[in-house]
Amino acid sequence: MRAVLTAGPTLEPIDPVRFLSNRSSGKQGYALAEALAALGFDVTLVSGPTALNDPPGVATVRVETAREMLAAVERALPADVFIAVAAVADWRPAEPSAIKLKLDKSGHGALKLTENPDILQTIAALGPEARPRLVIGFAAETHDVLDHARAKRVRKGCDWIIANDVSGAAMGGADNAVTLMTPEGEESLAQAPKAEIARAIAERIAAALGA
Ligand code: CTP
Repeated sequence: MRAVLTAGPTLEPIDPVRFLSNRSSGKQGYALAEALAALGFDVTLVSGPTALNDPPGVATVRVETAREMLAAVERALPADVFIAVAAVADWRPAEPSAIKLKLDKSGHGALKLTENPDILQTIAALGPEARPRLVIGFAAETHDVLDHARAKRVRKGCDWIIANDVSGAAMGGADNAVTLMTPEGEESLAQAPKAEIARAIAERIAAALGA
């Protein structure tokens, strides 16, 4: 069985020394990659910049931008399961500067942004030949967590979504609490170390694929 995952933040250049990014540590995605490898999956992890070591037994591909992340995922397919754990920047600077921007020269105009590709939605919309059998997203929310996550599962076209309350210390922290949402129902996994949450999710993926 093959699994492809994304994890970590993306980094979107403004100029050679500045970028837009977010607070994702990559811990939950790396833990899930490791848990799937421990169950015998052949795992490719496409990771944005993180401070973590490559997980043991996992082919790790390092990227920076959302567009590089999508290209690396497409190269890593086909797979039985795709899991989008990364906190992808929805927007990137429209015209990154080749030289360091100077406030006096560029004025204080707003940074012009353009939309990034949605990796999860792109993979979920692949034709039946190319689409992984199971496509799973994460929904990082700070409020109305379950409602937003339910809507996101439908909007993104994925099979499962894992709702993740990031209003507290989950982002960057060692623990997580999630709700697994599938077409069959919802299951809450109580607060636990990210490695434990990862093992529980990996077991459910293996069971769903008959692995
Ligand atoms: N995702 C992705 N590509 C993007 C944006 C998000 O693959 N450009 C994936 C994430 O990896 C995650 C899911 O989509 O699995 C939901 O990400 P999230 O940041 O919670 O949602 P957004 O699409 O950014 O929606 P919103 O900002 O409205 O909450």
